[in-house]
Amino acid sequence: MSFALTPDQHAALLDLHAAYRSKPLDRGLTRVILERFGLDLTATYFDQRIANPFVVASGQKSLANRHLDECAAAGWGGTVLKTFIGEDRDGHCSMIEWRNPPYTPTRIHFEEGDTQQERGIVIWTGRGATQDWAEYKRFAEHGLEVATRTGLVVVASMKGNFPRPGEAWLEDEWTFTTQQLLGLGYRLFEIDFSPTLGASDRAAAPETVLDWYRQSPGLMRRAAQEAGREIVIYSKIMNLEFGFEFQQAMVQAAIEGGCDGVVIGNRFFRADLKAAYGGPQLKERNLRLIRQLRQDDVRLPDGRPLPIAATGGVSTGADALQYLLLGAECVELLSFIMQADLLKKEDTTGVLNPYEKDVKRFNEFDAVLYKLMLHPDDGLIAGLLHLQDAYGVSRVLDVRTLCRM
Ligand SMILES: Cc1cc2nc3c(=O)[nH]c(=O)nc-3n(C[C@H](O)[C@H](O)[C@H](O)COP(=O)(O)O)c2cc1C
Repeated sequence: MSFALTPDQHAALLDLHAAYRSKPLDRGLTRVILERFGLDLTATYFDQRIANPFVVASGQKSLANRHLDECAAAGWGGTVLKTFIGEDRDGHCSMIEWRNPPYTPTRIHFEEGDTQQERGIVIWTGRGATQDWAEYKRFAEHGLEVATRTGLVVVASMKGNFPRPGEAWLEDEWTFTTQQLLGLGYRLFEIDFSPTLGASDRAAAPETVLDWYRQSPGLMRRAAQEAGREIVIYSKIMNLEFGFEFQQAMVQAAIEGGCDGVVIGNRFFRADLKAAYGGPQLKERNLRLIRQLRQDDVRLPDGRPLPIAATGGVSTGADALQYLLLGAECVELLSFIMQADLLKKEDTTGVLNPYEKDVKRFNEFDAVLYKLMLHPDDGLIAGLLHLQDAYGVSRVLDVRTLCRM
């Protein structure tokens, strides 16, 4: 896809694209874009302003100190930490299976037709962080240190016990874990409802899944109240195979459960591959659900439109705009960042570079954001310039208003 720009706009964008190809991005880029194009990239994650709508999704690019440092330096809006698998105050973790390393190696695959290798699909078996709290705590502390130093918004991600049908909730896993993260200073949280959880025997009964969405935010909120802390909770919606109405029902259950927002939505499980899958199919599923929620004008109990952080299949600024135009407040991505690892290998024969920036000389966070923001054909800036001309919208915060037109 390519946006129609005036010759002057196109030339100015090409200039910026060329300038940043050989130097690192930095947190000043958003100011440069404001000055040069009059575009304000500020977005939100709930009530928190973020420098731009791009957020690193929870996963393999938000599990090491280096990831957080490089993500902040390149100027991303935010990052969601790799999910911590909760434990109770005695260190017991009922979901320990989700702390085990993946049981098959992670692969990156390109679907037929993606001849330019622009949409790598990561095939992996889907697990959370492998650490126990004592170890994870040091990493989470680093996340807050980076947030304070750089302004990167850092979101915690966790899951606790999800009982099978008929089992009681092991509430202390939720209470202890939430309170530990709050105690460090985290306020924004995601609950990771993951593809392998959806595919496990725990999720065999649809009613059980809805119960998880209804109960888990309340457990975390009570833990926060006990600790006298404020908390913001986004429930990540799974993509299950119970039909579209069930997708909507999960969102309703999350709202009934008292979430502050939702992430739409996690990857789907491919039984043939025994792995989680994403890419364009995931994007189509998620766009469809978000579109429906907006059409139905789904709101929180206090009347505000349901805040939605979108995730899935984003590898261009145009992909991100599709979500923002439907009213998503930000976009979270991971696969496109992981795809850069292919270019870091010794043998890169046959691997194309969709970022047009040297990933080894810079790094994946820099190269990916460069592509998403500045690509002269399908980058976010090109798309926003087009919207500015067509609708007079110059702020990312106002893009969502266009979905009501
Ligand atoms: C290797 C891998 C690991 C992931 N780990 C997590 C995780 O720990 N917690 C979580 O909430 N989502 C996890 N996800 C889902 C991503 O956060 C993201 O929502 C999803 O992959 C869709 O975005 P994408 O198409 O840009 O990859 C993972 C995804 C991948 C590919």
